[in-house]
Amino acid sequence: MKKIKLPEVSISGRMPLEKALLKRRSHRSFRRSPLSFQDVSQLLWAGQGITGNDGFRTSPSAGALYPIELYLVAGDVEEINSGVYRYDPYSHSIISILEKDVRNLLYESALYQEYILNAPISIVITAEFERTTVKYGSRGVRYVYMEAGHVSQNIYLQATSLGLGTVSIGAFYDEVVKKVLNTAYEPIYIMPVGRIMRI
Ligand SMILES: Cc1cc2nc3c(=O)[nH]c(=O)nc-3n(C[C@H](O)[C@H](O)[C@H](O)COP(=O)(O)O)c2cc1C
Repeated sequence: MKKIKLPEVSISGRMPLEKALLKRRSHRSFRRSPLSFQDVSQLLWAGQGITGNDGFRTSPSAGALYPIELYLVAGDVEEINSGVYRYDPYSHSIISILEKDVRNLLYESALYQEYILNAPISIVITAEFERTTVKYGSRGVRYVYMEAGHVSQNIYLQATSLGLGTVSIGAFYDEVVKKVLNTAYEPIYIMPVGRIMRI
């Protein structure tokens, strides 16, 4: 499996957190321009990046069990081929799953919400529930959904701070998304990201 190292992240963005909170909105219209590999790196790191020697991350996790896995559906990113990739937080890399533009399939899986087709990328937040339910039983299910919310908000705020837009999409057919990503993990959110249209 091909592993591609992501560019080093910046920890000194130019937008204060308060401004990112003020500006965060769901965006559904994107410019037809590519995303930089640097921005993709930053967005994945904001969602699940490792930020401590103990393996702790940008997002909190019940029992530090980290059930969330991020997938990148890349359609138009500078420096990498279109395809499906899984984020590996341990090496801050992406692992190639499939080298093919599958944005049209992801769009179909999500009731034809056309912003998935038009965005240069989507980040799909998935989870392996057993990592958490093995310790917390059925209550672990709610913990995993809570964690997906944390991850999603981190991606929203990072996108805002980079001058990008995103929207958290919950309406899709789970089994179809799993097939598109070639994963057994459960999809929770699809987040298309792109440069926002200024009107
Ligand atoms: C759980 C959840 C599911 C959502 N699903 C969708 C969706 O399928 N499609 C969509 O366009 N927006 C979706 N949204 C985005 C909401 O429509 C949006 O957050 C809401 O209109 C408030 O706007 P704002 O995010 O700009 O503040 C979802 C939001 C949440 C929290």
